[in-house]
Amino acid sequence: MELTLSVIKADIGGYIGHSRSHPKILELAKKLLNKHKGKELIDFCVTACGDDLELIMTHKLGNNSEKIHGIAWDVFKKCTSLAKELKLYGAGQDLLKDAFSGNLKGMGPGVAEISFEERKSEPVIVFMADKTEPGAWNLPLFRIFADPFNTAGLVIDPKMHQGFRFEVHDVVEHKKIYFDMPEEMYDILALIAEPAIYVIKHVFRKKDNMPAAVTSTQRLSLMAGRYVGKDDPVCIVRCQSGLPAVGEVLEPFAFPHLVAGWMRGSHNGPLMPVSVEQATPSRFDGPPRVMALGFQLSNGKLLGPVDMFADISFEYARKRANEIADYMRRHGPFMPHRLAADEMEYTTLPDVLRKFARRFEKLD
Ligand code: 13P
Ligand code: 13P
Ligand code: MG
Ligand code: MG
Repeated sequence: MELTLSVIKADIGGYIGHSRSHPKILELAKKLLNKHKGKELIDFCVTACGDDLELIMTHKLGNNSEKIHGIAWDVFKKCTSLAKELKLYGAGQDLLKDAFSGNLKGMGPGVAEISFEERKSEPVIVFMADKTEPGAWNLPLFRIFADPFNTAGLVIDPKMHQGFRFEVHDVVEHKKIYFDMPEEMYDILALIAEPAIYVIKHVFRKKDNMPAAVTSTQRLSLMAGRYVGKDDPVCIVRCQSGLPAVGEVLEPFAFPHLVAGWMRGSHNGPLMPVSVEQATPSRFDGPPRVMALGFQLSNGKLLGPVDMFADISFEYARKRANEIADYMRRHGPFMPHRLAADEMEYTTLPDVLRKFARRFEKLD
């Protein structure tokens, strides 16, 4: 029977502002999930990235299980009630619907799930981000699974030399397309370089279709039609033995690439790799963060977590990210620090623009 690793997350309220999660919320989430351990759940880990509550769960009920999604929804609802009591900021921010109807799709929370036969040894990395959108994973996933300058195994490991297949979603038109690497490398780049629209959803090993990575792709603003905070996505990557090594999976994050999000979800800034302790965006509500928890799965048990970006080898990336953040901030309200007009449609800017729209006069 296949094992499923589900990572389900929601911003149910921030402490202070949008900067982190309250310890009482994490405590409650743990207590609630603990009731399901040994029943629907084999194991779980509760954590937070900034103001996002992250539920990492293993079970045998497969992807999109009504039971598992229902458990997560219940945790988010109860934590929202507590967040309201504590008057946390934006309590229930990501819960777009009132009642659960069998599946979390379209309801607000982010979901990444992957099912597989557990290997002799099964190392996985769960990436969690705050103050950004799902397309933020495009660049690192491309580098992990398609760039030989990042992943030595693509060249020297016969078990991965054939390459990987990417499933890319158009999150605006709700369409998907597959690309085979390395043959279609230039084709995929024509799309995924535009991460607001094209988002890598799955990566499979080509020779046997083994699932290697999955991301959460929900776009809150597109679902709600208005700005309700950023999506703050998650991503699961399996590692080693014919998949990229753990160090190859972490390597792209040594480069703090620019992503959309940050203050009011309206600014480009560097994605800074941080430890769990450092996942507390503060300067200009940022800069955007990513944390990486490593687990060895052992008959479904989550051995870990190990806080992979706590390592000193990511200090330089953090320093660079802070320098880039400083540089970007100097642009103030100017693009390209501020997002382009089409992405600003889903913020509060249109309300301001409407105020003086009638004052425009024709040029002679
Ligand atoms: P695997 O072949 O088990 O993935 O190990 C390679 C390795 O040790 C990379 O550092
Ligand atoms: P979150 O998406 O993390 O809630 O942040 C929202 C925001 O507006 C930060 O300035
Ligand atoms: Mg928030
Ligand atoms: Mg957040």
